[in-house]
Amino acid sequence: MEFSVKRGLAHQQKTPCIIVAVHAGKTLGDIGSALDKRSRGAINRVVSRGDITGKVGETLLLPDLSGVDPERVLLVGAGNVKGVTATSYRKIVNAAANALIRYKLESALSTLLDIKVQNGDQLSWKTDAHVCSIAAAAYRFNEHKSKPVRSNLTRFSLLASDEEFAGVRDAVARARALASGIEMSRDLGNRPGNVCTPSHLAESAVALAEMHPALSVTVLEEEDMERLAMGSLLSVSRGSREPAKLITLEYRGSDESKPPIVLVGKGVTFDSGGISLKGGAGMDEMKYDMCGAASVLGTLSAIAEIGPPINVVGVIPATENLPDGDASKPGDIVTSMSGQTIEILNTDAEGRLILCDALTYSARFEPEVVIDIATLTGACVVALGAQASGLMSNNDALAEDLLAAGERTNDRAWRLPLWQEYQRQLDSNFADMANVGGRAAGTITAGCFLSRFTKKYRWAHIDVAGTAWTSGKNKSATGRPVALLVDYILSRVSA
Ligand code: BES
Ligand code: MN
Ligand code: ZN
Repeated sequence: MEFSVKRGLAHQQKTPCIIVAVHAGKTLGDIGSALDKRSRGAINRVVSRGDITGKVGETLLLPDLSGVDPERVLLVGAGNVKGVTATSYRKIVNAAANALIRYKLESALSTLLDIKVQNGDQLSWKTDAHVCSIAAAAYRFNEHKSKPVRSNLTRFSLLASDEEFAGVRDAVARARALASGIEMSRDLGNRPGNVCTPSHLAESAVALAEMHPALSVTVLEEEDMERLAMGSLLSVSRGSREPAKLITLEYRGSDESKPPIVLVGKGVTFDSGGISLKGGAGMDEMKYDMCGAASVLGTLSAIAEIGPPINVVGVIPATENLPDGDASKPGDIVTSMSGQTIEILNTDAEGRLILCDALTYSARFEPEVVIDIATLTGACVVALGAQASGLMSNNDALAEDLLAAGERTNDRAWRLPLWQEYQRQLDSNFADMANVGGRAAGTITAGCFLSRFTKKYRWAHIDVAGTAWTSGKNKSATGRPVALLVDYILSRVSA
């Protein structure tokens, strides 16, 4: 998708479609009224007939108005002029995006930045919301279709006043970077497990680093992990013929001495459960078990494109979880890089086994904070569904900042406690800890497990098991929580 900014008068825009708000009470804003005047009242005639009332989410396409250059006018209900909230603004731009797709338009120009949003009307926020909504509506995953099903929409512009032009241009550049980071993350997630292997994740990181001079990449092989004594990560990889990779992608936007934000993404490119084999129903969706890794790559892509003065490191432990003859068995005990021993009571709790070594490894970056992102527990889907990611942290300020970033971007998270009392559930007869804590509070005990490897720094864990992809027939990766992470990182620059 090509995103751009236009200036000038609405009625003189050469576009297949101009998008205009209609507020409740059938009222047009300044741009709508000007267009209406040029078309000798054609818009107001339709509106006063009641074909569109201005309720949030309504749309109406008016083709061929005389007196104006745009070939069509897409009217979008925008609710009460004085009552447009962040939530209703998102509904408005989503309705516009869906209508553009439904009418198979190839190009459109929006005037919806003109809508004033209650409680902090911010151009950059509106631009992010609008651009990301358009990109999401037009997204298709076509790589394996012999006849691609594309949406027609390929060009989208925003109309800006002369005073706001420069601001909107910068906002669009940023939003475009965010949208393409989200898209990259979705593509990686949607790729099948036989294509998106640990090696594929490594190659994607290398390709990304080649595109941006501020990015550098290293890929550790299993021998390297052996040398680092990553016995826990390697124990998962043993069950598969695909070699594991430990990918490090570094973005340097600030000087060397500045501690980085470290993002650690679970990269299980297929999770069969291992010897504790999962049931067959819906198992294909376990190709999405690398969405944490994909969100790290998508976030670094967006950050590298935006270029803020801050340091960010991505760490991705990548492996398959399969039941080979050499696979870990329930009861096996492994030694993690931290020296702590783990009794593997369930080989399907593999995410924490690879993350713990990646978290221990992350201490070497002397991080400002470490945030891991993982499709870690089915229990998180039960608790929070697809609305919110599960957030756990050993630091209240960090947790608050991440929750706020999630609210701003509508990529929401909800905090769960890591109280000491939960830790007992991980007691093992034979090792320092078990890798599972029983049925109760499964998301929290997974977080408790990770907390034993993150004592040296401020840390947060985001469980995206319910938010990283949508299930069912139209299943697709969502690109969450890239928007949350990018917003958080940029907010740290200004802080
Ligand atoms: N990748 C899964 C978690 C998952 C399951 C995400 C379903 C999204 C949907 C993870 O590796 C896993 O299998 N977790 C187990 C942990 C259990 C054995 C303690 C789970 O949630 O069942
Ligand atoms: Mn599993
Ligand atoms: Zn898993």
